[in-house]
Amino acid sequence: MLLRSRITGTGSYAPEKVLGNFDLEKMVDTSDGWITERTGIKERRIAKGIQSASDLGVEAAKKAIHMAGIMPKDIDMLIVATMSGDMPMPSTASIIQEKLGIKNSPAFDINAACSGFIYGLEIADSFIKSGKFKKVLLVGTEVLSRFTDWEDRTTCVLFGDGAGAVIMEPTKRNRGIVSMQLHSDGSLWDLLCVPGGGSRHPASKETVKDRLHYIKMKGNKTFKVAVKALESLVVNTLKANKIKPSQIALLIPHQANLRIIQAVAKRLHLPMSKVVVNIDKYGNTSSASIPLALDEAVRAGRINDGDYILLEAFGGGLTWGAALIKW
Ligand code: ACO
Repeated sequence: MLLRSRITGTGSYAPEKVLGNFDLEKMVDTSDGWITERTGIKERRIAKGIQSASDLGVEAAKKAIHMAGIMPKDIDMLIVATMSGDMPMPSTASIIQEKLGIKNSPAFDINAACSGFIYGLEIADSFIKSGKFKKVLLVGTEVLSRFTDWEDRTTCVLFGDGAGAVIMEPTKRNRGIVSMQLHSDGSLWDLLCVPGGGSRHPASKETVKDRLHYIKMKGNKTFKVAVKALESLVVNTLKANKIKPSQIALLIPHQANLRIIQAVAKRLHLPMSKVVVNIDKYGNTSSASIPLALDEAVRAGRINDGDYILLEAFGGGLTWGAALIKW
């Protein structure tokens, strides 16, 4: 019997503090009308001063562990997707491991920007299919507000904080991850980056003065690449698995821009009722966005046993990827 990996628990967490478009109007030269029309975002969540990526990730993980009906001690692999981890070293996964009291599991971070959760799914899937790991905790967590330049209207209206998590376990049933597609085009890395704070531009008075520790994005160019890449990605993923778009019960896209989400849905002739959209509430939470949307869909009863669901993401790197899942 073919061994597959299956999501057996989901969880999510968003900080309480809401920052609305009208609040942003008081901070930079923007308007609720521009943000709503160009992005679909109405508000985003902002972590408290004492909250870091591991804190948000722990809250989401606890809920996923509870839904899966397991204990932290059962987890034998911990992967965290983040681009805004607690610190460069150790990994945020190690910090989450300590906070959850998980013993005897490897723990590491991956960074594929907004595609991080999809990359993590393929890694977790491969570990489970190897037969060596049986209960994998995969967390996507971001505190992007700490990397946002609150004086730059072209980026500060886009991002928010949040976390999502899943538990993955093996199954011999005809359920779980059917197919994964991962892509990267490193020649386009400079469309979206945080230039300061790494070994290329280590933190200094100059890097702080030049605001290099904040997210820089050439939004319009990124938008065009994203739409093209995602449209062919979803079509190819379904074709490769001989699945018709009409067989997809739910599309769960990365929440970067409502116009990108609508373009992908249109390419698949999917009505928006079959698409999970929560960008209006959270903005772009990078690697947290898909597990957050997935958890909301699961808890709202929007996914049934045997449904085909399609996840897709696009982000810095540039990276993109999709997961076809039979629930
Ligand atoms: N308020 C008002 N005006 C604004 C704002 C703002 N917040 N931001 C930009 N503008 C202005 C610009 O200055 C420009 O003015 P100009 O014509 O006078 O020069 C005009 O609006 C249009 O700007 P564009 O950048 O062309 O606007 P666009 O329609 O492309 O929307 C956006 C910008 C929302 C960023 C869009 O390009 C986008 O969503 N890009 C893709 C984002 C993405 O998918 N990123 C990958 C994932 S993120 C990750 O990995 C971390």
